[in-house]
This record gives sequence, C-alpha cells and structure tokens, in this order.
Amino acid sequence: MAAPTLRDSTPPGAGARALRHDLLAAAALLGSVLQGQSLAAALPELAARQRWTAAERAAAQALGFEALRGLGRAREVLRLLQPRRIKPAQLEHLLLVALALLSLPQSRPYADHTLVFEAVQACGEQPRLAHARGLVNALLRRAQAQREELLRQALQVEQARHNHPPWWIDACRAAWPDDWQAMLELAALPPPMTLRVNRRWGSREQYLQHLREAGLDAVAPQQPGLEQALILERAVPVHQLPLFESGAVSVQDASAQLAAGLLDVADGMRVLDACAAPGGKTAHILELADCRLLALERDRERAPRIADTLRRLRLAEAQVRVADAAQPQSWWDGAAFDRILLDAPCSASGISRRHPDIRWLRRREDIDALAAAQRALLRALWPLLRPGGRLLYATCSVFPAEGLEQAQDFLAGHGDALALVAPGQILPGRSPERDGFFYALFAKRADAPA
Ligand SMILES: C[S@@+](CC[C@H](N)C(=O)[O-])C[C@H]1O[C@@H](n2cnc3c(N)ncnc32)[C@H](O)[C@@H]1O
Repeated sequence: MAAPTLRDSTPPGAGARALRHDLLAAAALLGSVLQGQSLAAALPELAARQRWTAAERAAAQALGFEALRGLGRAREVLRLLQPRRIKPAQLEHLLLVALALLSLPQSRPYADHTLVFEAVQACGEQPRLAHARGLVNALLRRAQAQREELLRQALQVEQARHNHPPWWIDACRAAWPDDWQAMLELAALPPPMTLRVNRRWGSREQYLQHLREAGLDAVAPQQPGLEQALILERAVPVHQLPLFESGAVSVQDASAQLAAGLLDVADGMRVLDACAAPGGKTAHILELADCRLLALERDRERAPRIADTLRRLRLAEAQVRVADAAQPQSWWDGAAFDRILLDAPCSASGISRRHPDIRWLRRREDIDALAAAQRALLRALWPLLRPGGRLLYATCSVFPAEGLEQAQDFLAGHGDALALVAPGQILPGRSPERDGFFYALFAKRADAPA
C-alpha cells in the first residue's frame, strides 16, 4: 500500500466537511480491521462501496493509519472516560479515531477543537448515531480538557503506553530485552520511504539528480548491499517519483534490498523465487543478472502483480506460476536450482509501522502456525537446490520463532547445509531507517548427493 497522505488540496470552505467525512471513513476502516479484515482489503472495498474519491481514500487511509497506531492509547482513554461499553460499534470506532488523534499529538492542519466539533457533526449526520451527539460532545470535550491527566493514567497500562496488544509486547520484551521499547516506540511513527534505483536504468547518483530537479531530496546509505538505495527525506505518492512509470525506480525498504545481493546471482543461473508476489525481490534479482527465473506464488490474485512489476521495470520475463511452493511434486520439473529465495510468509512483525493493522489482527497462536509453515517450506525446497547452490531464507519478522530459531532448527536437521554468513536480524529500534527483517543464507555442501 502506498504511503498515505492527508488531503493537500481541500476546496475552500469544504475543509470542515472534508474532515467530518474523513473521520467517518477512518472509523469505518477501523471497524473493518477490528472485525478481522486487513487494511489492504478493507480500503479498496470501502472506497468502492462508499464511492470515495482518490483524495477521500487517501485521507481515510492517513487517518485510519493514525488511529491504528494510537489504538491502544485511545482504547484506554475511552475506558477511563466511559467504563461502560459504547454501542453501537460504529460510534465506538468514531470515538476511538477521534481519541487516537487527540492523544497522539502531531502537527495537523486543524485545531483540536475543530476535530471535536467535526466528530460531533459527523455523528449527527449518521441516522444510527445522531442520538449520541451529546455523548460524543461530552466525552471528547472532557478528553480535550483533561488530556494530561487522562494520558498520565492511561500510560500506566502497557497496551496504551506501547500501542500494541499485550502478547506482542511480551514477545518483543522476551526476545529483545534491550531493544523492545525503542522498537515499539518506532512503530508509532510513519516509516521512511526508501527507493531502489534500477541498475539497468542507471546509477543512484543519476536518479538523485532527477529527484532534486523534482524538488525531492534523499540520502544514499553507504552500507554494503545498499548501493542502489535512496531514502527520501519525505514520503510522496509514487506518481510523484520521477520516471517511476518508465521503470527507473522501485519502492522497497532497505532491509528487503539486501536479499538479492546475498543470493549472488549470475547470468544463466536457474533461480527459484518461491514466494514471489508482488515481485519486489524477483525484480531486484533480474536487475542484477539475466537469470532463468521461476517465480511461484500461491495467491492467484497476487500472482499477476509479479509480471506487472517486471513489465514496469523493463526487465526480462520470469516464468510465473500459481503454485504452492511447499508441494514441489505439483510444479517442479526435476532440474535443480542454483539459487533459491524463500521470502517466507510471516507475522510481518518487523513492518508493523508500515502496516499498523497487523498488530491488531494477529493472534499469539498465529506465530506457531506461521513458523510451522516456514519450516515446511524450507524442508520442501532444500532438496531442489543443487550441491554448491545457495538458499536465502528471509522474513520481515522480529520474532525469533520465525528467524533465528527457524535457521538453527534447519541447520540441526540438515547435515548438508552450511550457514554462509551469520544469520542477520535487523531490528527497527536499532536501525530506524530500516524495517525489521531476518535472513539466513545457506549453502548446500558441494559433495552433497545431487
Ligand atoms: C513476504 S511475501 C513475498 C514478498 C515478495 N518476495 C517481494 O519481495 O515482493 C510472501 C508471499 O508468499 C505467498 N505465499 C505464502 N505461502 C506460499 C506458498 N506455500 N507457496 C507460494 N507462495 C506462498 C504469499 O501469498 C505472499 O504473496
């Protein structure tokens, strides 16, 4: 999902009405997420059903993101203001959006009293909520007047302090005793927007020049593996990126940009990208070498995005198949691969600032199920690698069950596997400009049976 932006061109006189609409739209988004739907699915569905314009959709997304990032705090403040459950749910969601915005002060183009006023008006315009105008007015005015005291009390509760569910906080604290707080704090902030300049198009210095001509600036990280990366000083919609449509550049976090380089691909190699959609890493591999690449994706709806990505970047075609990578008997032709990338499905706990719905959608037991699926994928794919070949296992997770423990378990069970580099865990708290990411690079012993 592209980085959200608040409306930047509100027609004169329509500002207040726009905010009213945006609050209701964000409340609808929040409601969908709290019913178990991802933001990525809820946003297009609501936008189509409620006929939002592009600007309305972007504004709903921006407010929805803020509300989800501040949901733990907003819930606790609402509980302090009104211990009884608020009904109907739509009213509760509207209050939560308004309280999240009031409790996470950031620079906004409107004053708090405007926000309160518009939330009350929004309520009045909804037939099912109109009766609650007085309540919304009273609660939000108290929230505004007693903000300091309410926050002081709310922040005694961990879920409010860190804006994540308790099990997630516990898991981070147990795994990363020195980093968990910084990691969770960072998840309250919008993420950086990082680009990967297409090597086949040109150098990052050339692209930096185009950015500057377009009034955008960026920093070029100097770490090995990030030679084509540029971190923008501020996020912009992709259509504002120069030469985006002609394939000069992709949006890809710096951690994810490490993957293709670690594989060390060369022309002519037979490469498997086992979990490929939307094709960010597939494309990066093909920017580095003319490989014979098979991209698998289990999700029929997502698979076409791989070819779209390659087409936009003017890259060689890959063979794309809709298939379950854990079932090679249904798609493998028997010829061994030189390289395998397993960018496995995971909790996405390392990118919770990019997808603030994830922390509220996942359950603790999901982690065990995901770890089991990752283990099955690793086991199924390993026999497909030729002796001397490399397999890169990666997840955008910070939970060890999906990272280091998975890698250790794999090495313990596979005598023909070597760890080529020490497994890497990137923690967003330590590297704020990067997403959380885990990678383990395995080589198959050259003397292993083919
Ligand atoms: C982390 S995403 C991949 C991101 C991608 N590598 C990129 O860089 O753009 C994981 C993908 O794997 C797919 N997937 C999950 N289980 C799979 C399986 N058993 N076989 C193939 N694809 C799978 C998911 O639908 C999802 O699109």
